[in-house]
Amino acid sequence: MSAPLLQVSGLKVAYGHIEAVKGIDLELHEGQITTLVGANGAGKSTTLLAISGLIKKASGRVLFDGKDLSKMPPHKIVSSGVVQVAEGRAILTTLTVKENLELGAYCRHDRDNQARDLDYVYSLFPVLKDRANGLAGNLSGGEQQMLAIGRALMAKPRLLLLDEPSMGLAPIIVQGIFRTLRNINQAGLTIFLVEQNVRQALKIADRAYVIETGHIVLSGSGRELLVNPRVQEAYLGS
Ligand SMILES: Nc1ncnc2c1ncn2[C@@H]1O[C@H](COP(=O)(O)OP(=O)(O)O)[C@@H](O)[C@H]1O
Ligand SMILES: [Mg+2]
Repeated sequence: MSAPLLQVSGLKVAYGHIEAVKGIDLELHEGQITTLVGANGAGKSTTLLAISGLIKKASGRVLFDGKDLSKMPPHKIVSSGVVQVAEGRAILTTLTVKENLELGAYCRHDRDNQARDLDYVYSLFPVLKDRANGLAGNLSGGEQQMLAIGRALMAKPRLLLLDEPSMGLAPIIVQGIFRTLRNINQAGLTIFLVEQNVRQALKIADRAYVIETGHIVLSGSGRELLVNPRVQEAYLGS
């Protein structure tokens, strides 16, 4: 297999004297969906924040396409192609849907193809086109999640990071969003999906890691982990 697009090695992150991530290794391969699943408090968000440069690492290294992200400020990490969908869909509620999407393109060097990318986002999420001139704050929870994903896509990522996009959404909405993530991936984008919704995440993932109290305890293909007895007992209620 070719070199990983993103390689995390020996990552440790602490909040004061509490170690939240205790030395983890992850590999994300180009063109794949990789998922990191685990319970509330396991260290998933902390891992994403460390990759995005939004939190200080105690130790470890993050290599993206051979470049060391550890030495870059967060905006450089975004412009190098690693874009995180804001947790809790932190969209700007007093701006319109279209204005939110345009803000996503802010860190880009090339703005030439922005109109085409906006069309692409509208094709993935037609409801955003219908509501383009409405206030983002008037969207439903599911639509706000679509907007948060659309805004991240406007930044032209090479790697899309998502922190629990299923949170607080009805199962049918989650299925629609995950189907769209699959489509985005099939169009060529590499995805790192962090989830507590273990079943849905494993279903769409090529490769998966399970994190428990800051340690990676299992890894394998999504399909392998779906039938793994330990995963089934701990996360799938069977
Ligand atoms: N800002 C913070 N200050 C102190 N402890 C934190 C902070 N954020 C998270 N933690 C702790 O770090 C651990 C991992 O949290 P987090 O990465 O948010 O887990 P997850 O995203 O898997 O739910 C938890 O024990 C949590 O309580
Ligand atoms: Mg979290």
